[in-house]
Amino acid sequence: MAILEIKDLVVGYGAFPVLHGIDFVVEEGEVCVLLGLNGAGKTTTVTTIAGLLRPTSGQVLFEGSPLGRKPPSSRVKSGISLSPEGRRVFPRMTVGQNLKLGAWSQRRSPALVKRQMKLVLDYFPRLAEREHQIAGTLSGGEQQMLAVARAMMSNPKLLIIDEASLGLSPTLARVVWEATARIASDGTTVLMVEQNAGALPFADRALVMEKGTLIRTAVGEDVKNLDVRAAYLGA
Ligand SMILES: Nc1ncnc2c1ncn2[C@@H]1O[C@H](COP(=O)(O)OP(=O)(O)OP(=O)(O)O)[C@@H](O)[C@H]1O
Ligand SMILES: [Mg+2]
Repeated sequence: MAILEIKDLVVGYGAFPVLHGIDFVVEEGEVCVLLGLNGAGKTTTVTTIAGLLRPTSGQVLFEGSPLGRKPPSSRVKSGISLSPEGRRVFPRMTVGQNLKLGAWSQRRSPALVKRQMKLVLDYFPRLAEREHQIAGTLSGGEQQMLAVARAMMSNPKLLIIDEASLGLSPTLARVVWEATARIASDGTTVLMVEQNAGALPFADRALVMEKGTLIRTAVGEDVKNLDVRAAYLGA
């Protein structure tokens, strides 16, 4: 079953169109990677799914129902969580406090928050060792892990990660991708925005975006054979 369905989505900033009618699905339980060069429209796509941007036309369906004008907070409650571009952690708060804020939508269920905290610290052991450290003093890679972990705190059905690997060493990028693969195998569907084709071995589905349109889609075995360079060049 498709957990997410995007239908003829057109999004722009003011009168400036950025997405020119894109269509794709993400099946429940899979890892989907959305690739594309700078300015292709990846962040525009995922912020629209999270409800932070309103489409000009087209639809976003989650679990079969159109999200329409549902605000971001109720999308989080429905099970959509976004780890935004650029490691936006709260720098003056501790790792633990950052994580608790990620569970804001569940704040009335302390037992649930505690369970989720245990789970995300298990996904990211490096954060477990640093639970009381001030987030602004974490390394770049650790802050990226914290941003992903915080997004997981709302116990989402769909976790969207916008460029987790940006600025990370190849080793640390792998650590983050491996954690997302584990998250997916535990039942949370993952949609990852990436510029780094190194994420492809972790993907069940790959989409390539160029200038606001999708130019390639690969599923299953075909993901391995995706010629990213050709795709990027539109060849
Ligand atoms: N707030 C905004 N106002 C006007 N134009 C914007 C705004 N945000 C993005 N754009 C434009 O929309 C286009 C797509 O941007 P977007 O951020 O979606 O790309 P991206 O694929 O995420 O790129 P990157 O890999 O660099 O993050 C770009 O041409 C960008 O300049
Ligand atoms: Mg972006």
